[in-house]
Amino acid sequence: MPACRTTGAGAEPRVPSPLVGTRDSDWEGVRLHVVTGKGGTGKTTVSAALALALAEGGRRTLLVEVEGRQGIARLFDSGPLPYGESKMAVAPEGGDVYALPVDAEQAFFEYLDMFYHLGRAGKSLNRLGAVEFATTIAPGMRDVLLTGKVYEAVRRRRDGRRAYDAVVLDAPPTGRIARFLNVNAEVAGLARVGPIHGQAESIMRMLQSPQTVVHIVTLLEEMPVQETSDTVAELTRAKLPVGGVVVNMTRPPLLDRNALSAATKGTLDQDLLAAGLAAAGIDVGDPATDPTIAGLAAEASEHATRVHLERQERRTLETLDHPTYELELLPDGVDLGGLYRLADDLCRQGMA
Ligand SMILES: Nc1ncnc2c1ncn2[C@@H]1O[C@H](COP(=O)(O)OP(=O)(O)O)[C@@H](O)[C@H]1O
Ligand SMILES: [Mg+2]
Repeated sequence: MPACRTTGAGAEPRVPSPLVGTRDSDWEGVRLHVVTGKGGTGKTTVSAALALALAEGGRRTLLVEVEGRQGIARLFDSGPLPYGESKMAVAPEGGDVYALPVDAEQAFFEYLDMFYHLGRAGKSLNRLGAVEFATTIAPGMRDVLLTGKVYEAVRRRRDGRRAYDAVVLDAPPTGRIARFLNVNAEVAGLARVGPIHGQAESIMRMLQSPQTVVHIVTLLEEMPVQETSDTVAELTRAKLPVGGVVVNMTRPPLLDRNALSAATKGTLDQDLLAAGLAAAGIDVGDPATDPTIAGLAAEASEHATRVHLERQERRTLETLDHPTYELELLPDGVDLGGLYRLADDLCRQGMA
């Protein structure tokens, strides 16, 4: 297997690690990677980076978006995506990422067609407002359609082989993920026999099988970490397989251990602070009274507090006992080059 590569535009060359030359994914054999997380933690970004990392080495991956925000198109610098699967990016050493924004209405016609062969009649149902009924009045129906589409993409075959080596789902946020993935269990309970029952059961079987994992994206902040813990518990109760925890947007500590401790206690050496400022070309007066030095000490103290809190959050995440991966905060935001870099980071850490 080929190694992870750092060839995205803007990526810096790295010292080769002994692992380069092998590809040792923690999730070998997984076909569906579901990515959830508290809103704004980077679900879409991580999904795209993961799809790219999984494509590395000549594979084909499909990145599915179900929230209808065209976030994937924006991330890949593309215009709005048409319905259907379009090639989005190429991995550095070959491998294709396709993207599919799933539209519930379109999925509804496919569903009708599959079970009732109502393709054309379905269009007139639309005029009667049936689609609105199905997707608005019965919100669970929407999730049935979206998960059904994902199921179809995972299983699809083309020329005797799998159409996609892996599917990555940019899924609903932590607050809704268990319900979203579990909707087919409800359907199977409601429709006790027949094709709808069979389809719902097959989808549940796939979601609960070792072919599927649900990764959770978090920041080193209290709320997202709390939601991560809650979601691990909720998914476990629902017998849905929890995958890895992706700690996104991390920042390296700026001070060493001793300085952090001094900053916390407010005992940073003022003469050293003054010398540091002077070295940076900033004029300072008497170290004991200069406001710039006091300001710098206050900032150092805030930084130390944050580092301290982040350590606590890290410890909480460790108790969850799932593989964790870290992605640094890219200072200039996530452009296409940044996305390749994040993909490479995930690959190097064994996520793909
Ligand atoms: N590692 C990162 N470094 C810098 N910015 C990031 C990183 N990950 C995500 N972002 C930015 O954070 C914002 C939210 O990310 P997004 O993937 O859209 O989150 P979500 O899908 O969870 O709402 C976006 O502006 C994205 O570019
Ligand atoms: Mg998103």
